[in-house]
Amino acid sequence: MNRKQRRQMARLEPASALRQTSSSSAQRVGELFARAVQHFQAGRLMEAMQLYQQALLADPKHIGSLHHLGVVAIKIGRPEIAVDLIEQAIALNEANPTLHHDICFALSALDRHADAVRHAQRAIALKPDYTNAYLLLGDALLKLRRFDDAIGAYRQSLARDPAHAEAHNNLAEALFAQERLDEAAASFKEALRLKPDLVTAYNNLAMITFLGGDVLQALNVVMQGLQVNETAPLKSMFVTCARHAKSIPVSVAFRHYLVRAMTEPWGRPGATTTAAVTLVKQDPHIRQSIDRAVAAWPARLSCAELFGAEGLRATAGDRVLRALLQNTHAKDVALERFLTLARSALLDAITATAAPDGTGDDDIAAFACMLAQQCFINEYVFACGPDEQARVALLRGQVTAALRIGDPIAALPLAVIASYEPLYAIAGFEALAARSWPLGFDGLLTQQVREPLAERALRNEIRRLTSIEDDVSVLVQNQYEESPYPRWVKCALDETARPIDDRMRNDFPHARYRPVGRMDGLDMLIAGCGTGQQAVMMARQYEGARILAVDLSLASLCYAKYRTDTLGLTNIEYGQADILKLASIGRQFDVIACSGVLHHLGDPLEGWRVLLSILRPNGIMHIGLYSQLARTDVVATRDFLAMRGYRATIDDIRRCRQDILALDQASPARGVAERSDFYTTSNCRDLILHVQEHQFTLPRIKDFLANNGLELLGFQHDADVLLRYRRQFPDDPACTNLDHWHVYEQQNPRTFTGMYQFVVQKHA
Ligand SMILES: C[S@@+](CC[C@H](N)C(=O)[O-])C[C@H]1O[C@@H](n2cnc3c(N)ncnc32)[C@H](O)[C@@H]1O
Repeated sequence: MNRKQRRQMARLEPASALRQTSSSSAQRVGELFARAVQHFQAGRLMEAMQLYQQALLADPKHIGSLHHLGVVAIKIGRPEIAVDLIEQAIALNEANPTLHHDICFALSALDRHADAVRHAQRAIALKPDYTNAYLLLGDALLKLRRFDDAIGAYRQSLARDPAHAEAHNNLAEALFAQERLDEAAASFKEALRLKPDLVTAYNNLAMITFLGGDVLQALNVVMQGLQVNETAPLKSMFVTCARHAKSIPVSVAFRHYLVRAMTEPWGRPGATTTAAVTLVKQDPHIRQSIDRAVAAWPARLSCAELFGAEGLRATAGDRVLRALLQNTHAKDVALERFLTLARSALLDAITATAAPDGTGDDDIAAFACMLAQQCFINEYVFACGPDEQARVALLRGQVTAALRIGDPIAALPLAVIASYEPLYAIAGFEALAARSWPLGFDGLLTQQVREPLAERALRNEIRRLTSIEDDVSVLVQNQYEESPYPRWVKCALDETARPIDDRMRNDFPHARYRPVGRMDGLDMLIAGCGTGQQAVMMARQYEGARILAVDLSLASLCYAKYRTDTLGLTNIEYGQADILKLASIGRQFDVIACSGVLHHLGDPLEGWRVLLSILRPNGIMHIGLYSQLARTDVVATRDFLAMRGYRATIDDIRRCRQDILALDQASPARGVAERSDFYTTSNCRDLILHVQEHQFTLPRIKDFLANNGLELLGFQHDADVLLRYRRQFPDDPACTNLDHWHVYEQQNPRTFTGMYQFVVQKHA
């Protein structure tokens, strides 16, 4: 509704007030009404509305005007006024089926689904062949989760009009809600056959196809849908499918969407890494270069040996590779080896006078920049020999001297340095930002000079909320001051902020959820917010969110605040604090999120209890904890590293990674190389060299919930896992029986490799 319409609507007095002024003749009312209908049919709602109002002033009991004005009110987003008007019309003529039908739209917008059922049934009683009334009846029943009844209503509607696309679609939704996947898929397909632009049907059909295990076909359905309308759910479904795809579609469209999914982005850019790597390797020139690197590893190659005649141009020009390298860390051993050797080949090449055969300077510069950006993102995790380090130090010295005396600095050597160490490690690096550089270098300068400077400037803006004294807290703080976790470049696209009760009911429809019911904003705490990704996500997801995000590590908090400010979010306040001391800040919260944190405390349960003490009754907690069973690979690796005496330094992390990669594929300690965290320095440290790590089992979590007045609302897990669980345990549709989950996990030990992520509610 635009501003003018809102003003007009504000003038729409409740019809009871209009009643007192009726006196004009029936003829005048008839004329006004006829003119109003003309405007209405031509879509001129404001003009129509004025005339209906005039007609009602003349005759407050004019049913047509009450009815039509009600319909206008629905169209301009004032359903409460619509209900009032149409109810008056019904009071004057109870036997008019259209009135009962139309009021359903307004009631549905007000979530009064039981009333909508009543009116739809009355419309059908008055007019038994009223196809659309069956549809509305089905919709209201669907909202009330009376799936069998909804299916019955939709089938009645289709019996009268088999070509009704929406009826097929909504029937499919009801079948889908009952997990009757084959029937639902057939109905979605029929809906799309009848109406190929029914965009929600693509999303649902893709999800069903995905759940059925045909991820490739699901991707094709999503892409068909994206061509009709690029909705947020379809974009997010694209990421889900791309994340799970074992093979990918060979199509220009997939390449196009994948680049957009990573750069805009449509989900966490890391989610699509595997698909991106697969696609990059499909280029024959890049494939050959990667094969050469893998065959030669660890011996170094020249640019000509590594790239051949066309490899460098192909590599520099590959949009998927560029999107991957600039937006997330690449998780693939063969690609890593190629990039590592490419880096040393470039280091050699910048000392040579001529570019490698067949390759222009632009290709080298473009590739050097994207490689440097990748190395910064992965925090220089690639293997690096002492001779390379010495040569880079030499180059750094030359740049430092040139900066000091104002001599020119060539861009390419600077990019090569930036692929070995951050530009901010160069003495006087601040001056780099003031110089002019070729166009392609700007992104590199922003990443490695401007952003780190901006982050540092924020150090004084973050308040210290508690002291940090606990021995383990101090150790953990030191780790994350050196290695903030996780470094992220972009986060998923905006989600529509929704009220908490709405979101919880939607996410956990079978749970025994009690409304939090806050109307005046939601006080949220992100405890151990790290670099702010979760805070940003939750600030966008929850309507009225007022977030306090705390962490031990000032470096992480600066990283978080910089990204938050850049995204223009103003509802997150960052503070430095120890969870153990949070009771002292004198605040209470409606929602607390603490993911990937408690298992790093000396006593995780003590920290959890502190958080509970500042959670309001009925408050919600998002918790993420390590699973003991899912981390057997990590334990094996930690033992392996301890035996060899590795420490958490950058050199040791680089070396130990190569030792792990050299292990037999079947070795338990080699398993960590399958995890995304293995591919950046801080994440790798977090994964296998953490100063403090506890692990949990589901029985232990169950005990804690029972002893501390917490009700499990559900796990946050992939839809296919939840579906498999429900099929195995149909007596637990809410998926909250931890004994069942324990059995399920024993049978599927990798279920919680990414942690137990769940939501609980505190008893009032
Ligand atoms: C693995 S990171 C997880 C960060 C973030 N929750 C996420 O999921 O991206 C763990 C974070 O918890 C923080 N942390 C650990 N113990 C803490 C404590 N006692 N108080 C506050 N923060 C703590 C660390 O500083 C670190 O940033």
